[in-house]
Amino acid sequence: MTYLETVAQFYSAVAQAPQAGLCCVQSSPLNWLPELKIPQPMQEMNYGCGSTLHPQELVNQPTILYIGVGGGLEALQFAYFSRRPGAVIAVEPVAAMREAASRNLEIAARENPWFDPSFVDICPGDAFNLPVADASVDIVAQNCLFNIFTPEDLTRALQQVHRVLKPGGRLQMSDPIATRPVPPHLQQNERLRAMCLSGALTYQEYIQRIINAGFGQIEIRARRPYRLLDCPTYNLEQPLLLESLDSVSFKIPVPADGACVFTGKTVIYTGPEDAFDDNAGHILQKGIPAAVCDKTAAQLLALLPEKIIVTDSTWHYSGGGCC
Ligand SMILES: C[S@@+](CC[C@H](N)C(=O)[O-])C[C@H]1O[C@@H](n2cnc3c(N)ncnc32)[C@H](O)[C@@H]1O
Repeated sequence: MTYLETVAQFYSAVAQAPQAGLCCVQSSPLNWLPELKIPQPMQEMNYGCGSTLHPQELVNQPTILYIGVGGGLEALQFAYFSRRPGAVIAVEPVAAMREAASRNLEIAARENPWFDPSFVDICPGDAFNLPVADASVDIVAQNCLFNIFTPEDLTRALQQVHRVLKPGGRLQMSDPIATRPVPPHLQQNERLRAMCLSGALTYQEYIQRIINAGFGQIEIRARRPYRLLDCPTYNLEQPLLLESLDSVSFKIPVPADGACVFTGKTVIYTGPEDAFDDNAGHILQKGIPAAVCDKTAAQLLALLPEKIIVTDSTWHYSGGGCC
């Protein structure tokens, strides 16, 4: 049996006997949008490790391709913002999971007067062969699935996402990452991998694979503790902390000097002039923090080491500037 077959078998089982708490984290603020009621069976199948919903990305009724539907919770949340037939295309290889999501969405329609199940189109298919045309969707989202894949399969999945997104389109993901490389004996454990506990890459490797697939800009929207792998249970010499990372990656060309990764850093020009212009698109007003990507922060610091302060990553970036 391949590891992907083990994964499918695992998710078939948890579609039929839900495991509340399998992947979830404590905060999922978008469960409480006005007039949005999440059915109880859908809540019990929240197998996401963060959120891929960012309301600022969801204006103008975008078309969303959702990979790995689970119990349908995020598909329903996306439909909240795109209220039209077929707005959310949910791709799911596991028949029992497709059936569970369909059932849950029928309940959602009874509990939410604004929702019609036709808003979500649940299709058989998988992350390696997305059943939509090139450059046809505005947003692709996946929550707590890509971390399950081996690094080579992650690259294949990211290439598929890049293929189906329109130019400028966005990949919205939430995945566990590891604070140090996961040791081989855990990586090779297919059940732990299926449970989103042992396939995680380090932050650097995860981000680099997104860039290598052709995404020129990445924004980190949240980074929080996810699970601690302890020594006796996981046969480790030191406990290993996993984190959950919410990101949005844009299908724009990768700049010649490298991708722009926004992690919430700002640069502050300390004077003596009123402003500093690097003639590369950054005008810094004295004393006013300017949100920049990590690459620009490093470049500006190298340029003016005595006159620039770079603040730490907040891991919570959602656009810059107030003036
Ligand atoms: C951890 S669950 C996450 C479910 C959902 N995103 C959520 O947040 O609740 C992973 C989902 O991906 C599905 N899946 C497994 N292998 C897949 C593949 N190769 N391509 C697409 N989906 C897959 C599983 O059946 C399951 O529904």
